Amino acid sequence: PRTIYFTRHGESQFNVQGRIGGDAYLSPRGEMFAKKLPAVFAKQIPENQKVTIWTSTLKRTIQTSQYMPYPKVQFKCLDELNSGVCDGFTYEQIEQQYPQDYAERDKDKFNYRYKGGESYRDLVQRLEPIIMELERFHDPDHTIVIIGHQAVIRCLYSYFMNYDHEELPYVKIPLHTLIKVTPKAYNCDVELIPLNI
Ligand code: F6P
Repeated sequence: PRTIYFTRHGESQFNVQGRIGGDAYLSPRGEMFAKKLPAVFAKQIPENQKVTIWTSTLKRTIQTSQYMPYPKVQFKCLDELNSGVCDGFTYEQIEQQYPQDYAERDKDKFNYRYKGGESYRDLVQRLEPIIMELERFHDPDHTIVIIGHQAVIRCLYSYFMNYDHEELPYVKIPLHTLIKVTPKAYNCDVELIPLNI
């Protein structure tokens, strides 16, 4: 594709509760985002374009894609960073129950690996097939829309933006915002399209 769209899933029930990981459904606000998406894409994407939606295998990304009138493919490797024993915790709970881990992550967020889970470094590796698949596509008439997760979009976006390991885990990927990336010879054009939900 010439242009790739990235977005996080709509706000989930876990997002509302400040809990990480899990496999929650969307909140009512997240559902509104899902309902708004088709009209936004109808305007964004030229009529002759072929469109394919890539989601993770988690409910919140699949639910976000549900009203989009395009073919959809689920990828397990697009699932959110595995937070291992901290899955379902709030950051406060992690700080209380695993203070040392909390501090370690703060010191080196890219390399910190959750107990029984993954690091950003692991995630970058897990996403290699997705990057290869995106690079393999040269059909300018085929647009890929990736509905993913915060950490996953950070990795994919940083690949195209050439961000280094220090900045990658801190890139701001707001909810309810489309990120339109158009690769050029040596860099990328980027447009952020907030949906105001
Ligand atoms: O809070 C949403 C979320 O996608 C979590 O599931 C995930 O662990 C987290 O964001 C990743 O962000 P950070 O690496 O900044 O904790």
